[in-house]
Order: sequence, then C-alpha cells, then structure tokens
Amino acid sequence: MSRIREIFCDAQELTITWENASVSRLQAIWLRDHCQMPSSRNPDNGQRLLNITDIPLDVGIKQASLDGDRLIIEFSPDGHRSEFSLDWLLQNCYCLNRQYDDRSEADKILWHGGSFGQALPRCAYSAFCDQPRSKLAALQAVRDYGFVLLDAVPCESGQILKVIEKFGYVRETNYGPMFEVRTKIDPNNLAYTNLGLGCHLDNPYRDPVPGLQLLHCLDSSTEGGESILQDGFMAAKVLRDESPDHFLMLSQHRLNFRFRDECADLQSRVPLIEVNDLDEVVKVRFNNRSIDTIKLPAELMERFYPAYRHFAEILERAGLQLVFKLQPGELMLFDNTRVLHARKAYSAAGTRHLQGAYSDLDGLYSSLRLLEASL
Ligand SMILES: [Fe+2]
Repeated sequence: MSRIREIFCDAQELTITWENASVSRLQAIWLRDHCQMPSSRNPDNGQRLLNITDIPLDVGIKQASLDGDRLIIEFSPDGHRSEFSLDWLLQNCYCLNRQYDDRSEADKILWHGGSFGQALPRCAYSAFCDQPRSKLAALQAVRDYGFVLLDAVPCESGQILKVIEKFGYVRETNYGPMFEVRTKIDPNNLAYTNLGLGCHLDNPYRDPVPGLQLLHCLDSSTEGGESILQDGFMAAKVLRDESPDHFLMLSQHRLNFRFRDECADLQSRVPLIEVNDLDEVVKVRFNNRSIDTIKLPAELMERFYPAYRHFAEILERAGLQLVFKLQPGELMLFDNTRVLHARKAYSAAGTRHLQGAYSDLDGLYSSLRLLEASL
C-alpha cells in the first residue's frame, strides 16, 4: 500500500502529501541536484558526479508518477529521468527534517553541576577497548554531555596517546603530541604551577581549535587540585535567557586570542559564543589567560564589557560547576569546544602529575557513527 496520499506538481515544485497528512514541498532544482541515478551519483561511494552548473537554471518537472515504492520524475528541458525511493525522500526531505548539526546545542543534553548526582558518565578503560557497546556509550556521552571519564587507564607515561588511537587521531601542537601538567620551575604557562585556574577552554588562539582534550591523572597526592567541568552551552543558554542583548554581543562580535613564547606566536580572531545559521550555539571560547588586546569598533566597546563580564560571572556560578577529584588512573575526555575545565589550587606538598593531549571531534564522531551502524 502506498505511503503517499497524493502527489501534485507544477513545473517548479513537487508536493507530496504523505498518508499521515505531512507534506513535502520539493523544488525541481533540488530534486534534480539530488538525483540518485548512477549517472548522477557514484553507486559505490554515493558521491555526486554532476556539478550544479550542469543543471539548467530553468530546470522543471515535466511529469511525476508513482511506481510502487518509487517516485519517477521526468525533468524538462532535457528529459532527464530520476527515480527516488520513498524511504530516501522521507529521510532527506528538507521540509520534514530538522537541519541536523552534530555540533549544535539543539542536539545536546545540557547539564549543570547537580545533573549527574554520583553517576558521572564513566567507562572502564578495559571495556572501552574490548566491548564495542561500552565504547559506543562512552563516545555518545562525549557527543551528548561533552565529556566522559575513563577508569583504570594504566598509569604509564604516554598511555594517553594510546587512548586516542582507540577512537581518533592525535592533534599535535607546538606543545608536542602531549604535554605534562605539573608544577615546574619557571613555567611558560600558568597551567604548570600549583595555582588555581579559572574555567576555560584550551587554545582558543588556534585555528581550528582542538575539538577534544584528554587529561590523564598519573599521580595525585596533594591537598586540593580538584577538577571542575562546566557545560559552556548551558552557560550560553543562561546568558541568552538573562540578557538576549548580551548574548547577541558575544555571538556577533569577535575577539583576539594569542599565545606567544620563544617558539610560537599563535593568534586568532573569533567570537566567544559561536552560533550556526539557525542561531544555535555550536562553540564556546573562553580563556582569561590568552585573550589578547580587545579590539572592537569604538561604538561597541561600552556595550561589550557588561556582556563579557556577565558571561564570566555566569561561568563562576558554583551551581553550574561539576567538581570532583581526578584519581590516578582516571582520564577525562571532553569536548574542548563546549566543556570548560578548571582546577582548584593545590598544596606544595605531595605530587600532582597529569598528562594532557588533544584530538579532534570529527575522528570521534566518525568512530561513533561506524559503531552505531555496526551494532
Ligand atoms: Fe586547560
């Protein structure tokens, strides 16, 4: 039985009324551009074989008809014939489906400090390596919440790079493939002292910013030094709810970030809150240490500072922060475009040694999709 109640077309548009009364209105040029025939798409890899300029601007629909579960369209003026399965049309219709963006706040689960109770998203490292369903759940936690904790990761130097190989690729930087986080004499970065660090995202001065960060605890015998994670998308939502004007200021205007030492001079000009074409938050950047001279059009400066200060004040609210002490063998893997991290100050006595590394979101999402398709 057909899943279509009726079809109607004129030269420019095909209208499908589905049996549940939902309606797809599809432009002729869109249908021609998405032709699934072997002359238009490589049957093996699905890649498009035609260029948009191969399609006449005045392309139209000469006739459309149903043949079982397939819709047959003949186009004018060239008589090209396309067949679309009804399944494909339902899954791809731009009227019926949200414009999916896997980085968008609309596809995430936003959280605050009390959202998880004692049940943080966790996975035993042995299960992450050996059990595909456990690995999938861990990667889904990164996608949905922005972080996961891996337990019982062997406390060996360099192990963090082996963890990355399980789902993606190491993002090497001027700090090398990985970096040490412990108190150093004469450090070139405040991260390498025992001072507390406010909530921040790493490396906003890079373009592109590393999408993922990992921190692996090898030793923790100091007093203090608790880790803090915070959902930057939740903080951006709070800002938008409390002051749409402040949200607009931070999402529409750009700031300079910079890191400089004797080996590198990295600079970027980016917004603190990045939105997509649907005005949904897709990235947050905040790093008090590496924000460069603030340069904005003079008429904006007076309105910028209240917005900037408001966002910083939201990020300091204890209720939004998740606080826990990372134990030796634990590794936190988090989305560095969304989840801010911080640490409390720690004592000079004892040792605190973490190894950190970066990776990118595209590799993790790729592994996640392949696992979802295979299980
Ligand atoms: Fe950091």
